[in-house]
Amino acid sequence: MGRAFVYVILGGGVAAGYAALEFTKKGVSHGELCIISEEPVAPYERPALSKGFLLPEAPARLPAFHTCVGANEERLTPKWYKEHGIELILGTRVKSADVRRKTLLTATGETISYKFLIIATGARALRLEEFGVSGSDAENVCYLRDVADATRLVDVMQKSTDGNAVVIGGGYIGMECAASLVINKINVSMVFPEPHCMGRLFTPKIASYYEEFYKSKGINFVKGTVLSSFVFNAEGKVTGVNLKDGSYLPADLVVVGIGIRPNTSLFEGQLTLEKGGIKVNSRLQTSNTSVYAVGDVASFPVKTFGEIRRLEHVDAARKSARHAVSAIMEPEKTPEFDYLPFFYSRVFSLSWQFYGDNTGEAVYFGDFSGTSFGAYWVNKGQLVGSFLEGGSKEEYEAIANVTRVKPEIEDLSELERQGLGFAVAV
Ligand code: FDA
Ligand code: NAD
Repeated sequence: MGRAFVYVILGGGVAAGYAALEFTKKGVSHGELCIISEEPVAPYERPALSKGFLLPEAPARLPAFHTCVGANEERLTPKWYKEHGIELILGTRVKSADVRRKTLLTATGETISYKFLIIATGARALRLEEFGVSGSDAENVCYLRDVADATRLVDVMQKSTDGNAVVIGGGYIGMECAASLVINKINVSMVFPEPHCMGRLFTPKIASYYEEFYKSKGINFVKGTVLSSFVFNAEGKVTGVNLKDGSYLPADLVVVGIGIRPNTSLFEGQLTLEKGGIKVNSRLQTSNTSVYAVGDVASFPVKTFGEIRRLEHVDAARKSARHAVSAIMEPEKTPEFDYLPFFYSRVFSLSWQFYGDNTGEAVYFGDFSGTSFGAYWVNKGQLVGSFLEGGSKEEYEAIANVTRVKPEIEDLSELERQGLGFAVAV
């Protein structure tokens, strides 16, 4: 059994949705393109799962957040794919790939061949078992990667009102889920090994602002330790967690957000990997010229840093996907991918944006006891990164712009004195 397509997108997440829209803009013909996804639904804006989806009132539900509404573009429903002659092969896992033969084999036994393949397999959540802790398949232990996970989390959350949650991990999932749990009237303790939250991005000073805000909402921080074991009742439900520091926390619900691994396994030994992802060039092309990789799974050259990076953020997924399609469909007209890293988050009444790189020395500005503040990072005499909490649209555009320009900075104290005004003036 087999089918042949000109273009195949493997994976049906954020990048797949944006790639599909770009294909139609570039003039793909009916029957030329298919998307194969393990998920049973058409591509959607994954960021909604830790935000609007978890709200107690008027929560976001599909079909409202199919791609590409997150970038204020068309919402691609299953009907849209049908009308554009794009085949959605959903609920179907690809179990092996042969890039030499240009074929994919699905778990249902179908062989799908392509002329061009875009790998958009994203990533999977790391499990506690990979750190030597067992029991995380209990009914009230939740991971969060896809709609099925989010639906389960909502179900467990609704059964835990006024109860206790333990959030394992102090990264993006930990921070966003902790806020959602509090909004759902659940008492939250956050447990993570680092000295402060968001260790990959925040400096201690920035982290302390968010931690104080979270504490004012009743969230309890347990830092510098990790889970050692779960405690179960007779029904196999988790009732608490033991920590390595010897303490115990009761739990009606546990949310685990301890990082991800890119889904590269189908291509290991066939394509070049770097930094945990599939290595691509500035056309998003892998070591096999018929195969492209985009989104969380791709390690691509970030021109402004002069090095290969793998990013795990939605803006990178959207833009790399569009760029790959353009490189395939209009190779002559497509310039090098020149991407400025952009991360953001929204929790409670807070909202921040970050552009560039958080290397070098941080220079702070604004009011850390108020509602708007930020930081620049200066590395080797150049401004390379900017962070802003509570900015206006124009202010966010200004920090994005100044980071893209990478101005030379001779005097850090002058930059500190000018603060946000420096970005606005560039
Ligand atoms: P994505 O994970 O979206 O999609 C991969 C797809 O491939 C999935 O549909 C999967 O089932 C499928 N797949 C994998 N292997 C397969 C196989 N063998 N066969 C078939 N299908 C297969 N970022 C940000 O910048 N701001 C934010 O606020 C958030 N918020 C956020 C919340 C939550 C809960 C998560 C989990 C993540 C975020 N992110 C984020 C990160 C962002 O969502 C992420 O960077 C993008 O979804 C990456 O898009 P991809 O398309 O690369 O992978
Ligand atoms: P993360 O990498 O942001 O954070 C992982 C956290 O896990 C670390 O901060 C650390 O505190 C903790 N940790 C690591 N090992 C641990 C252990 N053994 N025990 C306890 N804690 C441990 O990853 P995440 O929060 O799981 O997020 C998953 C993915 O989703 C990431 O790719 C992230 O970028 C993405 N995401 C992004 C956003 C956003 O951009 N706003 C929001 C949600 C999710």
